[in-house]
Amino acid sequence: MSAEPINLDSWRDLTAAQQPEWPDRDELKRVVGKLAAAPPLVFAGECDQLKSELAAVVRGEAFVLQGGDCAETFSGADADAVRNKIKTLLQMAIVLTYAGSVPVVKIGRMAGQFAKPRSSSTETRDGVALPAYRGDMVNGFEFTPEARRPDPERLLRAYHSAAVTLNLARAFTKGGYADLRQVHTWNRDFVAESPAGRRYEQLAREIDQALAFMHACGANPSEFHSVEFYSSHEALILDYDRALTRIDSRTGLPYDVSAHMVWIGERTRQLDGAHVDFFSKIRNPIGVKLGPTTSADDALALVRKLNPDNEPGRLTFITRMGASKIRDVLPDLVEKVTAGGAQVAWICDPMHGNTFEAPSGHKTRRLDDVLDEVAGFFEVHRALGTHPGGIHIEFTGDDVTECVGGGQPIGEGDLSLRYETACDPRLNRSQSLDLAFRVSELYRST
Ligand code: PEP
Ligand code: CO
Repeated sequence: MSAEPINLDSWRDLTAAQQPEWPDRDELKRVVGKLAAAPPLVFAGECDQLKSELAAVVRGEAFVLQGGDCAETFSGADADAVRNKIKTLLQMAIVLTYAGSVPVVKIGRMAGQFAKPRSSSTETRDGVALPAYRGDMVNGFEFTPEARRPDPERLLRAYHSAAVTLNLARAFTKGGYADLRQVHTWNRDFVAESPAGRRYEQLAREIDQALAFMHACGANPSEFHSVEFYSSHEALILDYDRALTRIDSRTGLPYDVSAHMVWIGERTRQLDGAHVDFFSKIRNPIGVKLGPTTSADDALALVRKLNPDNEPGRLTFITRMGASKIRDVLPDLVEKVTAGGAQVAWICDPMHGNTFEAPSGHKTRRLDDVLDEVAGFFEVHRALGTHPGGIHIEFTGDDVTECVGGGQPIGEGDLSLRYETACDPRLNRSQSLDLAFRVSELYRST
C-alpha cells in the first residue's frame, strides 16, 4: 500500500497541450462522472502481466509488435474490421516468432485510439475555417460546423466502442481463432494474390510440420491454443483517461484501466506538462514517442520523472526519427540513456517520421522508407550492443491503398483507389507482411 494518497489531479494545474475546447463544460462534467462510474475495460493485473513481458523485452529476450489504425473510428468497431486487424497482427507475429525465433509481445493500437494531436487547431477549406478533426472521441470527421464541434458525449461513445473492440479482440485471441493450428486459415483469402501471402504459406507449412512432430512426441502445450493480446492508445484527452483511472484493490495503486498500455505522443511530452505529470501517477506500462529533435538530456529527464524506481517494463521509448535521420540521431540518444543506467525498452515507429504529400494531395508513406528506418534502427542498436526491442506501426487488415510500394506494389497514382484512413496512411495487409518478413531477417542477422 502506498503511504501517501496519490494526487491524480495535479495535472489540472499544468499546461495540457492538444486538448479540445469543449463548448459545454457542464456537459463535460456530466459525461466524465459517468465514465468515472463505468466498469474497467482492463484489469490492473493484466497491465502488470504486460509490464513483466515488457521487462523481458528490456532484457533482450522478447520483441514487441504494436500496431493498428492511426485513428480508430466508431464505425470501425465492427467484427470484420477487427478480425482482419487481429488476423494480420497474428500473421505478422507468427512470421516474427518463427522466422525471427523470438517471443513476440502483441499490443494493438486498438480499443481506445480515438483521439489525435493536430498541428493546427483549425482546418481551412475554400476560405472556411473550422475546428480540426481531433478523432472520433472529440468531434466528427465531416467538414461541417455541427460535426466539428467538440461533443463530450463522444467520450462515452469512445468508451463503448473500446469495450466492443476489446471484447472482439479477446474473443478472437482466446476463443480458438488464434490457435496455432489455424495458421493457414488466417491466410486463406490472401494467399493466391500476393507474394507475401505465398511466402507466408510456405512458413505455415513448416509450422504445421513442426506441430505434427511435437504432437507425435506427445506434446500439445496449452500456449498453442490462444495468445495474449494487449490494448494501447495515446492517452491524449486527459479527461477521458483520468476518468477511467481506478485504484487497484490489490495494491492500492492507480491504474488507467482504459487500456493495458498508454503512451505520450511527440507533441505532448513536455517535462513540465500535464501529460507527463498524469502518466507519472499511474502504474501501467507506458510509452513515450521520441522524435528527431529529442536530446539525451530530455530522454533522461523523462526517465527520472516517469520511472524513478527504474523498474524494467514500466517505460518504453518509441523512437520515430525518419529514415533519413535515424542513423544520425538515434546513436547518441541510446548511448547516453544506456550509460545513465536506465532500464527502458526501445521500439521503432517507422511511420511518423516518413510521411509526405503525394502530388494527388494524399498524405502517404513509402514502404521502402519504412523498411529503411527499421533497418537503421537495427543497425544502431546492434552497433551499440543494445536490444532492438520492437516495432510500432500503423496498419489495417484491409486492402487499402494509403502507403506506396510493397510486393504487390501501390504507386502514387493508385492512392485514390482505396484511401480510407481518418488520419495517417496505414500499411495494408500485404505491406504489413512484407515488413514482418524483413524484420525477421534483420532480427536473425546478428
Ligand atoms: C501517432 O502515433 O499517430 C502520432 C501522432 O505520433 P507522434 O506522436 O509520434 O507524432
Ligand atoms: Co499516426
